[in-house]
Amino acid sequence: LTLSFINDIVPALFITFIMRTYWKFSTSGEVIFGKNTAQSVGNELRLRKIKQALIVTDAPIVKAGIIDVIRDSLKSADIQCEVFDGGAPEPSTDIVNNAVDTAREVFASLPDAVIGIGGGSNLDVSKVTAAVLTHNTSPFDLFGEDKVAGACIPVIAIPTTAGTGSETTPIAVIEDVNKKLKLAVSSPFIMPRLALVDPMLTVSCPAKVTAESGMDALTHAVEAYTLIEHHALPIPSDMRVAFPGKNPLSDVLAMRAIQLIAANLRTAVYQPHHIEAREAMSLAALLAGMAFSNSGVSSVHALQYLVGQYTHTSHGLGNAILLPAVCDYLMPAQTREFAEIAEWMGEKTKGISDRDAAMWGIEAIRQIKQDIGIPHGLGDIGIKESDIPDMAQATMRYQRLTRVSARPLSAEAFEWILHKAM
Ligand SMILES: [Fe+2]
Repeated sequence: LTLSFINDIVPALFITFIMRTYWKFSTSGEVIFGKNTAQSVGNELRLRKIKQALIVTDAPIVKAGIIDVIRDSLKSADIQCEVFDGGAPEPSTDIVNNAVDTAREVFASLPDAVIGIGGGSNLDVSKVTAAVLTHNTSPFDLFGEDKVAGACIPVIAIPTTAGTGSETTPIAVIEDVNKKLKLAVSSPFIMPRLALVDPMLTVSCPAKVTAESGMDALTHAVEAYTLIEHHALPIPSDMRVAFPGKNPLSDVLAMRAIQLIAANLRTAVYQPHHIEAREAMSLAALLAGMAFSNSGVSSVHALQYLVGQYTHTSHGLGNAILLPAVCDYLMPAQTREFAEIAEWMGEKTKGISDRDAAMWGIEAIRQIKQDIGIPHGLGDIGIKESDIPDMAQATMRYQRLTRVSARPLSAEAFEWILHKAM
């Protein structure tokens, strides 16, 4: 009996409860992608029987005239809308509560949909607003994984930047004003029902925002591709986790995103009216969003939480500075993957070793960052050497991100990465 227990039952238990032998994939209910599709939003919503909607956006988007296009389209389809323009970069629970109050004042019951228009910040606020309105709860009760009680009123996500991929992820990052921490709401119930991606909306995006959000998309794709394999993540197979490790479909999406960004980000930054480059970047951001929301992101995003907190700089800027240093750390564990990335970024990899190719791949990432005017290191955005030990220690709490790293992480490892990124 003892032998049979060791030989048969133990491995069976291990496979059932520990190893994940499958992968899953989910994305927005529907994606509409193309030039000038924003003008068709009214008709698209009418087809979905939506009669009244809350628009969540910010004042600069209103000023840029983008809301006029959307409002005219909704009006021509006889859809009532109310605009909440109190969105802001790095949004907080206060902003969510203000959006919720606006909806409650205007609509007799629930609106039929929440339309998020803008960068990732506004889209994230629209997701949490939909959840709070539907379940009559508070944003503070939604932080963490799987805390939304059930289906929500539909979120329609219309990005005006090419970067976050928020239009196709079930995640919203919001600052908890009580804890003074940026936290994530992660639930399949806040996944946008429709992602309407119109690259023309990104044409007015300033060079700095184009560069930083483009590097965020590159970070999503590179992190998604170089994560631990889904079957190697030691978590129970019946547990739902937001970031379960890489899979063959996330790999394909990440690959294409990296190719598109390497070929188009510089052009989009320096020639803002280059429509093909804008279109390629919008597609890349969408694909990278689909990739990482089904596999994960890891060290770069975990460290960026701290960099953002210390410097109040944008998510994309912190990621851009951290990415090459994290790649240096991961390279010994993922040499083949970085060699492939080198090829997708247009480096010559024929006839050289995987290790040499991998080094060129990381160099190509450093080069694109430099070419588009991203500051050299963390020291340039206000991080001091003396901040590093505390930052490294604090990063360890983002376990949902650190556990999917292909190379194990520790506070010492994060210190090494931060020094390298200075
Ligand atoms: Fe990101």
